Amino acid sequence: MCGITGYIGYRDAYPIVMNGLKRLEYRGYDSSGIMMFDGKNILLSKTKGKVSDLEAITENEKERKVGQIGIGHTRWATHGVPNDINSHPHTSQSGNLVVVHNGIIENYDTLRKELISRGYVFKSDTDTEVLINLIEEVKKNEQCMLGKAVQLALNNVIGAYAIAVFDQTKPDEIIVARLGSPIAIGIGKENSEFFIASDASPFIEYTKNAIYLEDEELAIIKVGRDIKVRKIKDDIRVDANIQKLKLSLDQIEKGGYDNFMLKEIHEQPKAIIDTYRGRMLADQGIIRMSGIDDHINKFLNADRIIIIACGTSWHAGLVGEYLIEDKARIPVEVEYASEFRYRNPVITSRDVVIAISQSGETADTLAAIKLAKSKGAFVFGICNVVGSSIARETHAGAYTHAGPEIGVASTKAFTTQITVLTLIALKLASKKGEISKSELRAFMQEMKLIPKKIETLLKIDDKVKEIAAVYKDAKNCLYLGRGFNFPVALEGALKLKEISYIHAEGYPAAEMKHGPIALIDENMPIFVIATNKGHYEKVVSNIQEIKSRSGKIIAIVTEGDTQVKEIADHVIEIPETEEALAPLLTTIPFQLLSYHIAVMLNKNVDQPRNLAKSVTVE
Ligand code: F6R
Repeated sequence: MCGITGYIGYRDAYPIVMNGLKRLEYRGYDSSGIMMFDGKNILLSKTKGKVSDLEAITENEKERKVGQIGIGHTRWATHGVPNDINSHPHTSQSGNLVVVHNGIIENYDTLRKELISRGYVFKSDTDTEVLINLIEEVKKNEQCMLGKAVQLALNNVIGAYAIAVFDQTKPDEIIVARLGSPIAIGIGKENSEFFIASDASPFIEYTKNAIYLEDEELAIIKVGRDIKVRKIKDDIRVDANIQKLKLSLDQIEKGGYDNFMLKEIHEQPKAIIDTYRGRMLADQGIIRMSGIDDHINKFLNADRIIIIACGTSWHAGLVGEYLIEDKARIPVEVEYASEFRYRNPVITSRDVVIAISQSGETADTLAAIKLAKSKGAFVFGICNVVGSSIARETHAGAYTHAGPEIGVASTKAFTTQITVLTLIALKLASKKGEISKSELRAFMQEMKLIPKKIETLLKIDDKVKEIAAVYKDAKNCLYLGRGFNFPVALEGALKLKEISYIHAEGYPAAEMKHGPIALIDENMPIFVIATNKGHYEKVVSNIQEIKSRSGKIIAIVTEGDTQVKEIADHVIEIPETEEALAPLLTTIPFQLLSYHIAVMLNKNVDQPRNLAKSVTVE
């Protein structure tokens, strides 16, 4: 889950690689490094800390920036603590070969021992240094070109990787390869230059032509030549599939906001419209989703739907369960991908699996998909990143059109995933005759109002800020919700934990009395969703129970509420909507609240400690 970037061509490589690292920092940021080749020598600069720390080291040393070839890395540690030595790039024993690596070499210990017995001495604790020495050993023994050596070495490796390898004795090429971790290659005009990166953001201003390597592929990149792509195991040449990128630089920059998370929270009205545009024909009472339409019988004949995902996407999956069961009356189970893949689940060809992932690269979700496919299930993906591994691995799918989500804490991914799941639920409900045309039309009309309602809701920012100031020093918080709002309570707690490092738990409101109620005292803030349509009276009783134990209540209520207002310490009003659409609104104040608390506590909102945007390790 690290970020890789590289350049080979006619321009100065340093600014391209350095800017690329900044754009990829969301993938990991505990250390970083850059290799420059000045035409004669390799120069490595590496440091623990952020990319800005690396930049500070290189800034005043001109010689560290010279050359038209460079590779860089921003790390999220797996093997070896984050320190200067374990930072990438890593060099081979001879010092000739250099590698940057995203992934994990699982059999690194065996390989390391083998290499030590052959005289190799290791400087770092990383699996990556093992890999580059293995490549060197193979190259020496086989007397072959770098591309071949990389290929043969990778055939001895168990694990996941996206790598870029450079050899200073043959400095006109870079070899890249992938298994399980993403890598894209940007192609300059007439092959005059090439860009390498974990996603296309580092090179978007230079070229719109890119190749996304598939698993088990290796590419030989040489200036002035077409890229040669080979299958690593089968050793056959494959045609490189050059894609036209649609992403714009504007889309990946902060657009005037202090950080990406705030920008992404504010982008939700547009992101939701982009997600349902062309799919929801409200006036005609039609939902058009080719991924579902083309496989409608799979869904209609399914024994059940199993939703697999991790983190925030899993929370969206829970909303999906409530939606699909409520509207389409098809049984749904929601599973953590990481548990599903290892617990020997019963899956048959009559199951439909829906995999949800913003990044489309989450290792556990990807592995769970492969397991479900191997048992014959039909797998449908809901991803945000176009062309991502999960989008390619699934039989069919629907993209959320949220645009790039850079802030590590997911916001617009969550609401757009719920939007897609709502469309799926409605589509299946109408195909099964569970919803009448007029009900469907009315529901869709209401859904069309959601973006405007979110816009209104975003204006309560100052009020949320005041509440944040009151509770920012809390040590523990509870989030409660029922029905459709229960997953929102889980998501609210996750948002607070992730970026403020305040302990928070989400619970179904009625479960509180089975344990968590013991935690309640006058120091405990409890965030309760008490909207008018979701078991309102029951939630009011839960609030009374809290109040009589002196807990502090911050309630999310529907506009015009009077009952909860009398008991709660603070209320946040949301516009009225359908019960099943409430999560799209109730989640917004929680996003803003965790954002403001994190800012007040001086935390790095976009890059919280220990986390990474795309979790490509299990
Ligand atoms: C939470 C968050 C994570 C991700 C999880 C799954 O804000 O970002 O919990 O939701 O790692 O990631 P994707 O959706 O990319 O599979």
